[in-house]
Amino acid sequence: MKIKIMTIFPQMFAGFLNTSIIKRAIDNKLIEIEIVDFRQYSKDKNKRVDDYPYGGGAGMILSCQPVLDCLSEIKSDNSFVIITDPAGKRFDQSLAKQYSQKDELVIICGHYEGFDGRIYDFVDEKVSIGDYVLTGGELASMVISDAVSRLVDGVISSNSTCEESFENDLLEYKQYTRPQIYNGMAVPEVLVSGHHENIRLYRLKEQLKNTYLYRKDLLKKHQFTEEEKRLMKEIIEEHD
Ligand code: ADE
Repeated sequence: MKIKIMTIFPQMFAGFLNTSIIKRAIDNKLIEIEIVDFRQYSKDKNKRVDDYPYGGGAGMILSCQPVLDCLSEIKSDNSFVIITDPAGKRFDQSLAKQYSQKDELVIICGHYEGFDGRIYDFVDEKVSIGDYVLTGGELASMVISDAVSRLVDGVISSNSTCEESFENDLLEYKQYTRPQIYNGMAVPEVLVSGHHENIRLYRLKEQLKNTYLYRKDLLKKHQFTEEEKRLMKEIIEEHD
């Protein structure tokens, strides 16, 4: 899969592209991430990319010309174009999965007070990574690219993605590794019992408990099995 990121701060991406799993995925040609500086497309003599808003108001607006000239040059028939925007559709694991099936994703990083409204006519989706306002869309574009890239076949083992948080609308259970006792703190007994069924039930209950405590909203979407309903009853009794 190919991801093209349009930004005026290409230097922000060096660490992201050159570290850990993303670097390995690029080196192994599983993903391609191209950073495109759309300031280079500005026809203004000072390479400006923004201007004052019509009708007045605070802040500057990113202009059509550099953004749309850049987009029309880099996009292909297979591109899915998104723009980062705190007022956009909320990015989540299911959107990450949808994007990971695309041949090519173009992400336009927003800045200042926003984009000229006409730019949105050339975009498939406006995407927000959460209900807070960042100084720019670069971090949002990295969050999106990271979450999407790790779902591309071969980037990480599929075992790692099938039991993680948000699969099945549940948060993950806690994991432990050696030593069994660290500074007097022991690993839960059941995990060293070797009893696979008890371990499965313990982990499922932990998932339900974490989701109940931290993300009740996810439980509304969850399809409960009879076993989960029974565990949920225990959890509610234990926490009320
Ligand atoms: N730009 C600024 N804040 C943002 C957010 N929360 N999501 C996406 N893009 C943004």
